[in-house]
Amino acid sequence: MAYETLLYKKREGIGYLTVNRPDKLNALNRQVMDELHDCFQAMQNDAEVRVVILTGAGEKAFVAGADVGELAALTPLEGQELSRRGHQVLDLLEDLGKPVIAAVNGYALGGGCELALACTLRIAAENARFGQPEVKLGIIPGYAGTQRLPWLVGKGRALEMILSGEPVNAQEAYRIGLVNQVVPAAELMSAAEAWARKILANAPLAIKFALEAVNQGLNMTREQGQALEAALFALCCTTTDMKEGTRAFLEKRPAKFVGK
Ligand code: COA
Repeated sequence: MAYETLLYKKREGIGYLTVNRPDKLNALNRQVMDELHDCFQAMQNDAEVRVVILTGAGEKAFVAGADVGELAALTPLEGQELSRRGHQVLDLLEDLGKPVIAAVNGYALGGGCELALACTLRIAAENARFGQPEVKLGIIPGYAGTQRLPWLVGKGRALEMILSGEPVNAQEAYRIGLVNQVVPAAELMSAAEAWARKILANAPLAIKFALEAVNQGLNMTREQGQALEAALFALCCTTTDMKEGTRAFLEKRPAKFVGK
């Protein structure tokens, strides 16, 4: 599929995905959401892509939210459908089976903050701003911000952001655990690539199973989560990479993983 609102390329195991509507600060309209869904599916099924870096076009915004022009005309039923579609697209992103690094290069507001929350790691440029300003528009976060934000920063901080609608800057986002690292804007992509390479050096199936254990485990009781962990741990023990990783350690040499 040729994309009109996304830029996508892949190089050396990394998929580079850019939301590309800079004149609208990369706001998420229906077309962007449809193209994101299509691209996430393509990346999920593409063995050449092992880590994804997601960012926004231009220097001002990662994604400044759902498209307010579209929101303004929603009937209740359409509002419910829009929210459910957002859940579907962002769940696919979170459960891609490969890590997605958000390189947040400016405003990450509303649906943009929620998009970043569904990523595996968040690296912020110093000029990044994170916020859930929906209450200023008479709505609430609809792309699972009411769920993922409290998971990440705790209920108190999440409610502070959701009820005030006020953004936090990159340093504050780092302080409350919303982002993993803050870097100067000029170093954002190289910092994201450094994280990607660190992950690429590890056993691909172990990365996939670790993501699954954490993501699925958050929706389970501790007993269920631990049962899943034990099953996935056992699955790791069937892999060539497990034999290679442990043998390489004992032989004091770097491991050569094959993803099997
Ligand atoms: N939906 C639709 N269009 C948006 C948008 C959004 N979420 N965010 C920005 N835009 C558009 C603006 O309407 C403007 O378009 P125009 O040039 O055709 O008028 C363009 O992007 C540039 O934005 P502008 O507001 O002029 O930039 P700014 O630097 O003055 O302000 C923001 C930047 C991010 C503070 C401001 O755009 C904003 O508050 N956006 C909405 C954020 C929001 O409420 N998001 C949550 C939605 S649920």
